[in-house]
Amino acid sequence: MSALNIEEPKGRLGILLPGLGAVATTFIAGTIAVRKGLGKPIGSLTQMGTIRLGKRTEQRIPAIKDFVPLADLNDLVFGGWDIFEDNVYEAALNAGVLKEPLLNSIKDELETIRPMRAVFDRNYVKRLDGRFIKEGRTKMDLAEQLKEDIRRFKKENQCDRLVMIWCGSTEVYLKPQPVHKNIESFEAGLKENHEAIAPSMIYAYAAISEGIPYANGAPNLSADIPALLELAKQTNTPIVGKDFKTGQTLMKTILAPGLKARMLGLSGWFSTNILGNRDGEVLDDPESFKTKEESKLSVLEYILQPGLYPDLYKDFYHKVRINYYPPRGDNKEGWDNLDIFGWLGYPMQIKIDFLCRDSILAAPIVLDLCLFLDLASRANMKGIQEWLSFYFKSPQVPPELYPEHDLFIQLMKLKNTLRWMRGEELITHLGQEYYD
Ligand SMILES: NC(=O)c1ccc[n+]([C@@H]2O[C@H](COP(=O)([O-])OP(=O)(O)OC[C@H]3O[C@@H](n4cnc5c(N)ncnc54)[C@H](O)[C@@H]3O)[C@@H](O)[C@H]2O)c1
Repeated sequence: MSALNIEEPKGRLGILLPGLGAVATTFIAGTIAVRKGLGKPIGSLTQMGTIRLGKRTEQRIPAIKDFVPLADLNDLVFGGWDIFEDNVYEAALNAGVLKEPLLNSIKDELETIRPMRAVFDRNYVKRLDGRFIKEGRTKMDLAEQLKEDIRRFKKENQCDRLVMIWCGSTEVYLKPQPVHKNIESFEAGLKENHEAIAPSMIYAYAAISEGIPYANGAPNLSADIPALLELAKQTNTPIVGKDFKTGQTLMKTILAPGLKARMLGLSGWFSTNILGNRDGEVLDDPESFKTKEESKLSVLEYILQPGLYPDLYKDFYHKVRINYYPPRGDNKEGWDNLDIFGWLGYPMQIKIDFLCRDSILAAPIVLDLCLFLDLASRANMKGIQEWLSFYFKSPQVPPELYPEHDLFIQLMKLKNTLRWMRGEELITHLGQEYYD
């Protein structure tokens, strides 16, 4: 198999983050801390993962970062937009995820990262009200202003390349509509201030038209519309989404494949959460919650395939609740009750109480996405990067495909894609040759 031609990652990689809240600041401060040896990048596949090559007898298991040419952490520069003027040090303190002594030890660096004025409209995130926002006659004007920000950032920070990851709040639920159909309708919509064009789509449009890889960490549509996919293909831009897979959904996509593998039935899965960060506050609004709920609910349907296994999964009851509870801050608690059944239909229960830290789980995902999207761009891979669905609750796929949610299949796909990029044999796990 021949390897792809991948450009070397020379120079600096600028990371642009719309939304400098809990996730983004935990990612930035964490990466700077890792750079200084103050902590380890736990949870990051690009930094800690290995990849097996060839046969099990060959013992070739390099680190992923030695196998594919990824940008070095020392070459990353950070920037972003927010509706609040706080610099990243202030915003990180505010988010209350990382401890103050750690933030103080890198304060000088964090304070230099100041947000640019946001493209924001309260109609799409009802629970927030910010004043640090751009003004423009049309949504197209706003997109142009974002493009100017991007170019200025690139020049001032002497970046060779850029990537953009949406870490902004979850917007209200929108369905794809005719205005999203192709580039012409979308650009006309930008000029007419069409109400089905949300701010996250304006950022995505600005990035993709400049050829900047774009990932969406929230469940709102953003780049998951035909117009922006068409634009991504036209501008040779890799895109991926949606909604970082952390916490409860991560657990679901670990457990559900296991139940199905053993042909155990499921009659109900009830999930409830308490969380008290700003994300929790935004999700307290029913319209933003609806976007999140759609994203969280689909996972089990796809993994368990009730159509194929009616005796095991037909009509299982699935409920997801998120409750805003300020005392816990970013430290969420998620409870799951699973009613399962086994041999002859005998019922059993599983209870999970996950005391998790949302942004601690999300930060390494942001890092991996930055590095892998930049790799994809240098390898000339454009459009949807389904091999990165490992990181998402609602993986973006072309309309004719259903998304793959099983974490282990997603990981295999990711690693096989890396092998394919480097011209290595794909691993099928057949292994007959060991017994010949
Ligand atoms: N933490 C997780 O585990 C996790 C998992 C999946 C998805 N997410 C999603 O990631 C996003 C960020 O999560 P968070 O915990 O950091 O939330 P957060 O509320 O702490 O941060 C979001 C930030 O985005 C800003 N913002 C909102 N609209 C904006 C706009 N139009 N332009 C620029 N900035 C804007 C807000 O002011 C805020 O600072 C949310 O949408 C959340 O649902 C988080």
